[in-house]
Amino acid sequence: MAPNNWTIAEIPDLTGKTVIVTGGNSGLGFESVKAFALKGALVIMACRSVTKGEEAKKQILKFLPKADIRVMELDLTDLKSVRNFAFNFKRNHSKLEVLLNNAGIMMVPYSVTKDGFESQMGTNHLGHFALTGLLLEVIKNTPNSRVVNVSSMAHTSGEMDFNNLLFENGKGYSSTKAYSRSKLSNLLFTYELQRFFEKNKINSIALAAHPGFSSTNLANHLIKKWYVRLLKPLILKMAQPASLGALPQIRASVDPQAKANEFYGPDGKRQMKGYPIVVDPKPKARDLESARKLWVASEKLTSVIYS
Ligand SMILES: NC(=O)c1ccc[n+]([C@@H]2O[C@H](COP(=O)([O-])OP(=O)(O)OC[C@H]3O[C@@H](n4cnc5c(N)ncnc54)[C@H](OP(=O)(O)O)[C@@H]3O)[C@@H](O)[C@H]2O)c1
Repeated sequence: MAPNNWTIAEIPDLTGKTVIVTGGNSGLGFESVKAFALKGALVIMACRSVTKGEEAKKQILKFLPKADIRVMELDLTDLKSVRNFAFNFKRNHSKLEVLLNNAGIMMVPYSVTKDGFESQMGTNHLGHFALTGLLLEVIKNTPNSRVVNVSSMAHTSGEMDFNNLLFENGKGYSSTKAYSRSKLSNLLFTYELQRFFEKNKINSIALAAHPGFSSTNLANHLIKKWYVRLLKPLILKMAQPASLGALPQIRASVDPQAKANEFYGPDGKRQMKGYPIVVDPKPKARDLESARKLWVASEKLTSVIYS
């Protein structure tokens, strides 16, 4: 390891800080919760299954008995659940240093959320858009707070289509198109959020991260396919452990040197694995018009208005 590789050893003391990790019970979210708890933060694991969340918390407490982790229910496919989560959080907390929008699903067959949104756009983008907007009050109240959105290299093949943003009734749907659109949306949202913070003089920054290719539960549902089963040993060899894959989002969340709009990813070949550095997204992720249109559509769809 080169001496300048960023690892969890670089994380400053987080005592007194509050962090929310969506999807904190599994994969990269779980590794992030561990790292923040290790450094003394109060970590809220926002999970769609409280049972899974409590099980994950138990695992962490085995080796970090003093960790301050609280499990709260959050289902990003249900705006009512997102509202309940935000309400319950705000009832008990007046500040939030880091909101890590990590939860996600990948390349699932066409289905819709409780509110009728295509499920990948609904979970990966719209659920987090609504959550962030509903937590804005506490984010604003917390000097130097951060919102970190977890994107993917899949954003590079993402295409926005504002005439059919949510693949209405499955029109034009492909599981890869919807995933890459949702991951491009994560970046467009990050940059528009930062513009919103600046315009409204809010002392918070928006950043993004991607984990390269990491071994998690994200593709478990694909393993049922025969060709994925056949390729599994090769795939596993290519992937890096979740503990390494989580470093870009951990760094974006807590590195004191990190700046607004930065996008962290692995430093290895094709950004597939390695230690976290600032990387460049595709230029389309910085497109102002797409970001604006996505914001307007997201406010309309979720009825969460940023102010
Ligand atoms: N792994 C990679 O190589 C890779 C590459 C690029 C980007 N990413 C991104 O990394 C993020 C984390 O994924 P991961 O790889 O760590 O996968 P993972 O192990 O499957 O974890 C995903 C987490 O999201 C949660 N989640 C899914 N749907 C949810 C919903 N409706 N409401 C609340 N939580 C929900 C899952 O909950 P359950 O446990 O209940 O399912 C789980 O906790 C995702 O945004 C993904 O797009 C991963």
